[in-house]
Amino acid sequence: MIGILYFSSTGNSLYIAQKVQKRIGGQIKYIPNYKGNGSEFEKIILVTPIYSYGMPTFVYDIVPKLNKTTQLIVIQNYGGMAGGADYFMYQYAVEQGLNIKAVYAMKMPENFTTTFSVPKFYIEHTLKNADKRIDDIIDSICTFNYRLPQKCKTKVDTYFKNKSNWHLIGEDFSSTNACIKCKKCISICPANNIYFDNGKIAFSNKCVACLGCYHRCPQKAIVYKGRNKKDRYINPNVCEDHIGKDI
Ligand SMILES: Cc1cc2nc3c(=O)[nH]c(=O)nc-3n(C[C@H](O)[C@H](O)[C@H](O)COP(=O)(O)O)c2cc1C
Ligand code: SF4
Ligand code: SF4
Repeated sequence: MIGILYFSSTGNSLYIAQKVQKRIGGQIKYIPNYKGNGSEFEKIILVTPIYSYGMPTFVYDIVPKLNKTTQLIVIQNYGGMAGGADYFMYQYAVEQGLNIKAVYAMKMPENFTTTFSVPKFYIEHTLKNADKRIDDIIDSICTFNYRLPQKCKTKVDTYFKNKSNWHLIGEDFSSTNACIKCKKCISICPANNIYFDNGKIAFSNKCVACLGCYHRCPQKAIVYKGRNKKDRYINPNVCEDHIGKDI
């Protein structure tokens, strides 16, 4: 059985994980809830967004815990610029002594959109092109024609510096009067960073900058730096309730 471990806040990585599952089978596991080390699987396919040319916190944290002999294949996705994230991922896995076989990077719609909106036509265009890229990646996996990323010169500590600043994003979130107190943001936050304070949604200091609360609040009641004009994004091809679940 293949293990498809994923992190996702707006569904792009889940979409890729589901396409992989449809073609080659396997169990989909949401990384923040996954307590294993992958040794129960014959192969691990890890699907993750790129954050600040690096990885989300939960991915940084799980990689060193993975079983060293199980084959690891990584599919990263990004909104605009991958930087050297694929090579960094490869290097990080090698440093941990993992059996890393391939790292792929592909473009999906951007979700780091707190300060701008992406036009709808461009989102649709990106999603359409993504399907072919996902199929190519799966073909490569199925034929064992694995691909490793090209060497990149960016220093590893740059990425770690980015990671250590993510909680600062959470300090700029607030909720507006549009909030209907449905508690959805509390339940979907992977870092347990959201709570009620005097009847109002509040944020602690453990934010991992996934932007899940921002995009998925049904009222657009969570705003960044007090601004409320930007569009929200959820991958239209996944069932939103499945984001953050094992399938
Ligand atoms: C904190 C954060 C940092 C990001 N950094 C990058 C980046 O460096 N380069 C990039 O192209 N996209 C970046 N993105 C965009 C995501 O990688 C992209 O939209 C991804 O498809 C989201 O996947 P998801 O829907 O599975 O969460 C970032 C998104 C977030 C939330
Ligand atoms: S998801 Fe939105 S509406 Fe629901 S409690 Fe959170 S901020 Fe309020
Ligand atoms: S507070 Fe929002 S952006 Fe921060 S980790 Fe939780 S859901 Fe993600």
